[in-house]
Amino acid sequence: MIGDGVKQAADALRAARRVVVLTGAGISAESGVPTFRGPDGLWRTYRVEHLATPEAFSRDPTLVWQWYDWRRGLIAKVQPNPGHAVLARWEARWPSFVLITQNVDGLHPRAGSRNILELHGNIWKTRCPVDGTIRPNHDVPLAEIPPRCPFCGGLVRPHIVWFGESLDRDTIRAAYTASRAADVMLVVGTSALVYPAADLPHAACGTGATLIEINPDATPLTDDAGISIRGKAGEILPLLDSYLQRG
Ligand code: OAD
Repeated sequence: MIGDGVKQAADALRAARRVVVLTGAGISAESGVPTFRGPDGLWRTYRVEHLATPEAFSRDPTLVWQWYDWRRGLIAKVQPNPGHAVLARWEARWPSFVLITQNVDGLHPRAGSRNILELHGNIWKTRCPVDGTIRPNHDVPLAEIPPRCPFCGGLVRPHIVWFGESLDRDTIRAAYTASRAADVMLVVGTSALVYPAADLPHAACGTGATLIEINPDATPLTDDAGISIRGKAGEILPLLDSYLQRG
């Protein structure tokens, strides 16, 4: 029963001092952002190796930027949903609350979350490969494709971790530190197939955290999750929040 899982999850959260949440594309699905591996997932229509690798960018930066420009246009039209809103509010509930996201859509910050580790970057930022400068860019559509660095004139790239690339060292370290210190880790809307993100819940479990999963489908994490709630993030998180507020 969903209600039982939500009640158990609320009890675990109420008893917790350190709460960490890991989100994936599923939390933005109800806002209208396509996931990657679902029935209408981006990786069912587009080939990763043509669009989301450093090789693809070297081969055809215009094609890669056109694709990101299209995704930015799509994301700009949508709104954060009640699931994002609950997580933003929870920052005030637990002083040590950490939100780790694999999402690059920027919907968590738009919903008001501030203490976020964006493991895979952010689609609203560019990075100059020459000097590494990261700059916000909210142009929809982009003023020029491909965009160029205002200083060196070279091509800038999306500030996104592509397949075959390493995550930012400080960000993944901070994510492991938070996960290992967690009393409760809530994993929301991720297929848990992409590493190292998918390892963080194991790290949390390894140091004794209770793992709670919210996902309409089973994932490789489901068996390890002490509490598995099969449902949509935009419905379950507000329900969980209302249980928490009841005391
Ligand atoms: P996936 O597309 O792999 O998985 C989305 C998950 O969300 C699935 O497990 C769905 O069952 C679940 N889901 C769908 N609708 C949901 C809803 N309303 N509420 C809750 N869950 C729902 O997305 P990720 O796991 O985020 O990399 O993928 C990981 C990474 O792979 C992404 O960060 C992306 C991609 O390549 C980059 O952008 C760099």
